[in-house]
Amino acid sequence: MDLRSDFLSRPTPEMVEAMIAAAQRRGGFGVREDHHVRELETLAARMVGKEDALFCASCGLANQIAIHLQCRRGSTLLAEASSHVFTSEAGGPAALSGVMCKGVPGHEGIADFDAVDEVLVAGDAQRSGVDLLVIENTHVRTGGAVVDMPALERLRGLARQRGVPVHLDGSRVFNAAAALNVSAAEICANADSVAFSLNKGLAAPLGAMLAGSAAFIDEAVRVRQMFGGGWRPAGIPAAAGRVALETMPQRLARDHTVAGELGAALAGLDGLSLGQSRVWTNLVLLDLDERLGLAENFAQALARHGVLAIPFGKRRLRLAIYYEIGLEDIPFIVDAFRKAIVEFN
Ligand SMILES: Cc1ncc(COP(=O)(O)O)c(C=O)c1O
Repeated sequence: MDLRSDFLSRPTPEMVEAMIAAAQRRGGFGVREDHHVRELETLAARMVGKEDALFCASCGLANQIAIHLQCRRGSTLLAEASSHVFTSEAGGPAALSGVMCKGVPGHEGIADFDAVDEVLVAGDAQRSGVDLLVIENTHVRTGGAVVDMPALERLRGLARQRGVPVHLDGSRVFNAAAALNVSAAEICANADSVAFSLNKGLAAPLGAMLAGSAAFIDEAVRVRQMFGGGWRPAGIPAAAGRVALETMPQRLARDHTVAGELGAALAGLDGLSLGQSRVWTNLVLLDLDERLGLAENFAQALARHGVLAIPFGKRRLRLAIYYEIGLEDIPFIVDAFRKAIVEFN
């Protein structure tokens, strides 16, 4: 059972059918001409409350396009210090956009308000000014923590006071919406641009969306091309993406229930504890006692018993839940952990 990431979810039969149908139709020639791509982009823009949206190969690409368009060279990109744009996008902001990265401390994915306020200075002859604030929701490093509406509004307010735009790295924004019981559009109203994944909890085979104003997306088309991401024909993955948006957001609350139950069951085992104050969404962090050794070795033992998890630190593992994992799978997962624990005792 592969719990290393929610992107391992396979497309649903309905998505597969939509892809087969799309494969039988010739793709459009123009960059934004393809029928399936247009349908997906229109739906995506509507669901996050923005004027337009652009289909991208990955959420990392969507984030980097947003950064490139909103930051001048030498300016500063501000975000909570363990944000994905800093930790896992291969230095993209510096390499692709010449941007300085300033990470501020945060608690459970939410950047410290005072620290944000202090750093949000306008540039001057000597100092680099902040051109963009990135908020990540849900926040992956802390195990899917949700930035709630008051925090989003506060951060948005601080940025707005200084005339700084906000980009939402909403790779799992539909998980955040499900957890907060609000629409994705309500969350995204606090950002000028938003990137979100189709291939994680939404289970499309690949792809992500970048959304924002019509003028912003017009420019994004050019930058996507510049970054080598101008894909054609993209109708087949777009057809699956549309089904993902139509059918999967409403299912995510169930993933959160499974993750919560799994977290509770595993945290009760000898030597394991939850690596987060609670399970917020579909990601579960587990901390290992010293006697269970390093996460890397423990993950190997676990794999021998049929469960794949990723080390998320020296003594921490991460498990991701997606639609193919249900409450009925919990006994098998718990049993694999029990057997692995025995190996280390
Ligand atoms: C918060 C966050 N942003 C961006 C990404 C990048 O997504 P992709 O792998 O599609 O580039 C991820 C991937 O896990 C993520 O968790």
